[in-house]
Amino acid sequence: MSVHTERRKVTTHRLSEMKLRGEKISMLTSYDYSMAKIVDEAGMDVILVGDSASNVMAGNETTLPITLDQMIYHGSSVVKAVNRALVVVDLPFGTYQGNSKEALSSAIRIMKETHADSVKLEGGSEIQDSISRILSAGIPVMGHLGLTPQSIHKFGTYTVRAKEEVEANKLIEDAKLLEELGCFALVIEKVPSELAAKVAQELTIPIIGIGAGGGCDGQVLVVHDMLGINQNFSPRFLRRYHNLFAEMKGAFSNYIEDVKTGDFPNERESY
Ligand code: KIV
Repeated sequence: MSVHTERRKVTTHRLSEMKLRGEKISMLTSYDYSMAKIVDEAGMDVILVGDSASNVMAGNETTLPITLDQMIYHGSSVVKAVNRALVVVDLPFGTYQGNSKEALSSAIRIMKETHADSVKLEGGSEIQDSISRILSAGIPVMGHLGLTPQSIHKFGTYTVRAKEEVEANKLIEDAKLLEELGCFALVIEKVPSELAAKVAQELTIPIIGIGAGGGCDGQVLVVHDMLGINQNFSPRFLRRYHNLFAEMKGAFSNYIEDVKTGDFPNERESY
C-alpha cells in the first residue's frame, strides 16, 4: 500500500519503522487550519508548526520574537485540521533554554492547549536537561541541529554550518546524545550532505534534512517557500513547486478590476 493511501495516523513508532524499511519521510510546515488540511490530505507524514511562523506569518526578520501563546494559537489551528500526519510544534526562543522546569511547563502548555503529538527544540548538549525533563513527562521530542535559526545572533549568518571538523564532530556527538536521551527524530539543517548522511547512517532514529542532502531519512521545507508565496528567499536547497505569489497576485488584480468595473457581482451572484 502506498503511503498516500495509508490513512492510519502517523506515530513516532511508525516513523522509526519507515526508517527501518528505508521509506523516506515527508515533512512540511503549516501554521493555520486551511493550509494544514490540504497538506494532511496530500498525505504528508509530518506537519511541523515551525517557529518560522515568525517570518512567514508575522513578517519578522528572525524566529526570535514569536511567543509561546502565538505558537499555541498556530498549533491548535493546525491540529484541528489534521487526521493523519504527526504534528510537531516548535518550542519558541526563550521558553526552554537554561531552565528545564520552564522547558517542561512550556512543553506541557503546548501539548495541553494544542493537542499536538510532540515538540521540537533547537540545540544539543547545552539543552540536554530541558530535553530529559520534557521526555520524562512522556512528551515526544524532536531535536534540531546544524543551522539553528534561534541562535542566528550567535552565528551571525544563515550560511552552511559544520563545514569545519570541530563543528562537524560536535554535531555528530550532539546527534548521538539526543538519540541516547530519547528524541524520536532529528532535524538537521543546512550542513554538508556527507555529514548529514553519516549521521543518518550512524543513528537509528530518523534524520530529517533541510539543506542537508539526499542521504537523510526524510526532508522538510517551509510551505510558503516551496509554494513560491515567499519570494525573498531562494537558497540553493529550496525546490519551488509553484509560483503562488504571481498566481495569487493575478487573481487579486482580476478581482480588483471586476469590482472597479462593476462586473462583480453579476445577477447570478446576487439575491
Ligand atoms: O521553523 C521551522 O520551519 C523549522 C524548519 C525550517 C525545520 O524549524
